[in-house]
Amino acid sequence: MQIIRTVAQMQQVAQRLRAEGKRVALVPTMGALHEGHLSLVDLAKAKADAVVVSIFVNPTQFGPSEDFESYPRDLDADAEKLRARGADIVFAPERDEIYPKDFSTYISEEALSKGLCGATRSGHFRGVCTVVGILFNIVAPQLAVFGQKDAQQAAVIRRMVRDLRMGVEILCGPIVREENGLAMSSRNAYMVPEQRQDALKISEALKIARRLIDNGVRSADRVIAEITNHLYTSRRIRVIYAHVVDRETLAPLREIVPGRSMVVLAVWVGEVRLIDNMEI
Ligand code: PAJ
Repeated sequence: MQIIRTVAQMQQVAQRLRAEGKRVALVPTMGALHEGHLSLVDLAKAKADAVVVSIFVNPTQFGPSEDFESYPRDLDADAEKLRARGADIVFAPERDEIYPKDFSTYISEEALSKGLCGATRSGHFRGVCTVVGILFNIVAPQLAVFGQKDAQQAAVIRRMVRDLRMGVEILCGPIVREENGLAMSSRNAYMVPEQRQDALKISEALKIARRLIDNGVRSADRVIAEITNHLYTSRRIRVIYAHVVDRETLAPLREIVPGRSMVVLAVWVGEVRLIDNMEI
């Protein structure tokens, strides 16, 4: 496994892979890798000849009061996990490699980015689209793999790739959870044991929703009411949003349509912002 720290070298290696006729997959990450990330590497390996994993804590997708500075960083541990998993290349550029001092060009998706997380994280998806666009230009992958954990991000990226004719196939891997149901996230590391206990209410709430829907409930309001009731059995949880949305347009739905709908949740557990979702 090769570790690359500069854009120039990554471009050179990518060019060589293309010249050799290899199908290249990119798995973009911000590091602090867990089984969720690694499952995307498995998916990429099954679909491509060479797997590039990028590790870059992207400053432009963090708001001024968010956790850019404190975001967990451990390149050595991440590289070890990726080596064990059979990744071919780790691309871990420094900030200035991606964003020169006078950087001034951004990609902004203007519809799917507005609601849900976009409503409270202004500029977040603009930062995500910009860095993913830059990574696509550097690595020139045929395929890129994202996680369903960040369902809105995946939808925004698909739209960007379609609108800008980026010609990169987008694949989405299922949410990987801890045994207790908690969706894996690099931010879970911020939680103390008491908060981890509270956070279990998120996946429990989704299970309650599933049960209701399996029993024939189709009113989104009813399902959301039960979800929020369950979340608020903890005093330390604050709900940021809880909706039933259309999977593709992310538009909120009144009526649940199995096969097309998705329950999406964002909550604060203390100072930790967590998201989760479930396709119906
Ligand atoms: P990061 O949060 O590191 O996540 C990298 C990828 O892993 C994303 O596609 C995310 O959806 C996926 N992922 C995270 N937790 C997962 C889980 N429990 N199960 C399955 N997949 C999971 O998302 C980002 O980084 C950034 O926004 C990025 C796309 C790299 C742009 O900076």
